[in-house]
Amino acid sequence: MNQSAFAFVDGVLHAEGVSAVSLAEQFGTPLFVYSRAALTQAYEAYANACAGRRAFVHVAVKANSNLAVLNVFARLGAGFDIVSSGELARVLAAGGKAENVVFSGVGKHAEEMREALAAGVKCFNVESIPELDRLNAVAASIGKKAPVSLRVNPDVDPKTHPYISTGLKANKFGVAFSEARATYRTAAAMPNLEVVGIDCHIGSQITEISPYLDAVDKLLELVEQIEADGTAIHHIDVGGGLGITYDSETPPDIGEFVKTLLDHIEARGHGFRNVFFEPGRSVTGNAGVLLTRVEFLKPGEEKNFAIVDAAMNDLARPAMYQAFHAIEPAVKREVAAQVYDVVGPVCESGDWLGRDRQLAIEAGDLLVIRSAGAYGFVMSSNYNTRPRAAEVMVDGGSAHVVRAREKVRDLFSGESVLPG
Ligand code: LLP
Repeated sequence: MNQSAFAFVDGVLHAEGVSAVSLAEQFGTPLFVYSRAALTQAYEAYANACAGRRAFVHVAVKANSNLAVLNVFARLGAGFDIVSSGELARVLAAGGKAENVVFSGVGKHAEEMREALAAGVKCFNVESIPELDRLNAVAASIGKKAPVSLRVNPDVDPKTHPYISTGLKANKFGVAFSEARATYRTAAAMPNLEVVGIDCHIGSQITEISPYLDAVDKLLELVEQIEADGTAIHHIDVGGGLGITYDSETPPDIGEFVKTLLDHIEARGHGFRNVFFEPGRSVTGNAGVLLTRVEFLKPGEEKNFAIVDAAMNDLARPAMYQAFHAIEPAVKREVAAQVYDVVGPVCESGDWLGRDRQLAIEAGDLLVIRSAGAYGFVMSSNYNTRPRAAEVMVDGGSAHVVRAREKVRDLFSGESVLPG
């Protein structure tokens, strides 16, 4: 990932050619800042490794669904992985093409299926027999055949946080490996479905390649059985999940990850099949930061607190997963460093952004919270009636507002009181 997209120049953090200080002054805080160059570089790491091979990238929209972010990827020719018709609408509004969209998710509504079928998505990643039934009925009602893959649960341990590991038997996702072959037979017999591929997603923030190789081996074993039953499998979707460096993690290089998987599939004699990747975090995570200002420094008997203007409603990951995000002053200063818990103004003890951080700061200082480009703004809420932050994309020396800061009046504009 392009670390240099967010680098210090003369002691001041810059996003590409624009200083964080001027961004904060112009657009206010808390502020999500994305780098077009970093988004491009991360996407191209996948695309270049796929070039000349039967491999395709579908960016996971859930990690960052801002239209400008999706548009950067669409202009580069990306496909997209969606989990709702809302995400499909965003992809289309951002210039993406439905025929390059795969539709994942464990609980698709009939109306969502109808919209995606009408738009002409490439594939539905289906997770259960009732979902196959529903999709078959929806497709019949509009006289179409729906292209499907089954999301198979390969039961491998991705060695990540339990909340974001999805491929174990105990998870709600996918068709159990032991039932997959029979479920494929059921799917193949449905008149308005066309089986086209096989899919898995084993988890997120995975920093090793080996769980993927294990998952692929299990999928290939199944592919051979499904084809022996007379159903052709045209593509293998290996899901998303490659991790990024938040702290000291050392995930494999994206190009090496892609190459290793493709080579492995080829070596197993399946090189003629298409391979899909669904990266989210690894294409957007380190292409974004969250800028926040220190409201107060509050020394305590046991802990010192730096109370900042961003909170758990802006960046939920620390509160939800005890996730680590690097935090630094955006302007390096010559003041004494102290250890702080960096916390927000929300009325919950769980509202923290960083714990036990050594920071040389004073009230009023600007801080940068790194790695906020994935699962940042998209997971934000209006808890405590806090308007959601603005989002800005930097492109070389210019900054563009790509989502305006919400206003308080917007937050209850759809509400009403009882009559009388
Ligand atoms: N494909 C499917 C079917 C997925 O469920 C996901 C993520 C992805 C692709 C993209 O995975 P990635 O490359 O981003 O790891 N909110 C959590 C992460 C949840 C991930 C859910 N699925 C977090 O903030 O860590």
